[in-house]
Amino acid sequence: MVQGSLWNSYSNKNVSYPALKGDIAVDVAIIGGGITGITSAQLLVERGYKVAVLEAKSIGKGTTGHSTGNLYVIIDELLSKLKSKYDGKVVERVISSRLEAFKKIEQNVKNFQIDCDYKKQPLFLFEDANTFKILEEKKVAKEIDLAFFELSEAFPFIHDDGMRLDDQAQFNPLLYIQGLAGALDGENCQIYEETCVRAVEEEENRILLHTPEAIVSAKHAIHATHTPKGLEIQYHTTLGPYREYGVAARLKSNEYPEGIFWGYYDNKKYSIRSYSRGNDNFLLAVGSPHKVGQAKDNQAHVEDLKNFVESRFNVAEFTHVWGGQNYKPADLLPYIGRKKTNSRELVATGFSTDGLVYGTLAAIILADKVEDKFNPYEDLYEASRHNPAKAAGKFIKENANVAGELFKDLTFKGDDKDLVEILPGEAAVIVRDGKKLALYKENDGKLSILSALCTHMACEVHWNNVEKSWDCPCHGSRFDTSGEVIEGPAFNALKKIEINK
Ligand code: FES
Repeated sequence: MVQGSLWNSYSNKNVSYPALKGDIAVDVAIIGGGITGITSAQLLVERGYKVAVLEAKSIGKGTTGHSTGNLYVIIDELLSKLKSKYDGKVVERVISSRLEAFKKIEQNVKNFQIDCDYKKQPLFLFEDANTFKILEEKKVAKEIDLAFFELSEAFPFIHDDGMRLDDQAQFNPLLYIQGLAGALDGENCQIYEETCVRAVEEEENRILLHTPEAIVSAKHAIHATHTPKGLEIQYHTTLGPYREYGVAARLKSNEYPEGIFWGYYDNKKYSIRSYSRGNDNFLLAVGSPHKVGQAKDNQAHVEDLKNFVESRFNVAEFTHVWGGQNYKPADLLPYIGRKKTNSRELVATGFSTDGLVYGTLAAIILADKVEDKFNPYEDLYEASRHNPAKAAGKFIKENANVAGELFKDLTFKGDDKDLVEILPGEAAVIVRDGKKLALYKENDGKLSILSALCTHMACEVHWNNVEKSWDCPCHGSRFDTSGEVIEGPAFNALKKIEINK
């Protein structure tokens, strides 16, 4: 089974960009080359701005390339939950704003003739036991005049209640981003890969972004990294970092279900879809969400997902397994806009698992912000908002959770493993001379020794045995076994440590 997203297997190998090696000056510097960053670049270049995209790894291969590739106007947390916090007008505005972004993606696919297997599909929601989740969703849909249909007799999954929304869509998100990036005007849009931003410095008339080999000077900077980099406490305390797994499988029969399927089983949600390219067919399932860095055994989450798929489909083989991260906002709405009034830094975060459409919407709103042009949805997603009443319960829960993790870390005495006890492919956190160390033994026996303290705000990182990474339970930073940042708010790598063994 391939450790990595299915989309990577269909990546356009001809798409690559250089690393930034010298100082440059642009109008807008965009940190992150996923759907938010590349769409922002597109819209800004179209308006005549000079733009640079700084991607730490490869274009489209971060969160965008680990998503389901499903496009829909409702939200993962469901409209009924949104309606429990806001009035119907807000729910309607969320739908209409997402519809605008959805149409933008469709238009891009068409205008740039992006070969990304874009296909209109229905979205099916169903539950196997009556928890009234679907009933509540139907009620809200009726209230806001969102067209839906009852499920037909031929619906392939056992269910107690369900509904169908037509005219949603699916695509291959990596091919879409690679295609969109390739279509951008090269003169006004410089794209860099393997270019990690280590610091952002706002001055009176400009903003400076520091990478290991260059400084980018810009009038505006967009944080399109899923969660803003740095010590942005106002976001990190209102967002919950979650991770879930995806698996792809080939089936023994050729009966791959067509559509987007969100199934609720005992309150656990699984998202199912199929993907075909050429003669290849796959079934994809995504689910088993958990807080980043807090799973005792990440492999157990993968097994849960595989068991779910095997209990409902005739699986010939599992082909891919991958993890994807999302940040859930306490008040259920993403943060899109200026970090503070008049700030040159613009942020886009808190998309939950709805980031393909929200990322595109963020690009539309942020392009207007750069131009100082009014956007009809700017107030709804205002990035500097403080919404204590709407966020209250979840805010307290998420922060108590972070405080709990910090306390656990402070009192943790280490895994009590001796260095020689760690087997190849295994990892442990130990305490040596009062320092917490993250140890990983590679398959050839080489030991990587890193500080176990996250470079963001010093929580202790935990081992992820599926993705072989060090994950921080506080705000979701993740590091590879050499200590380099994979994702999350941390700018810097885990410190390498020398010890006498
Ligand atoms: Fe904030 Fe690690 S991500 S302390």
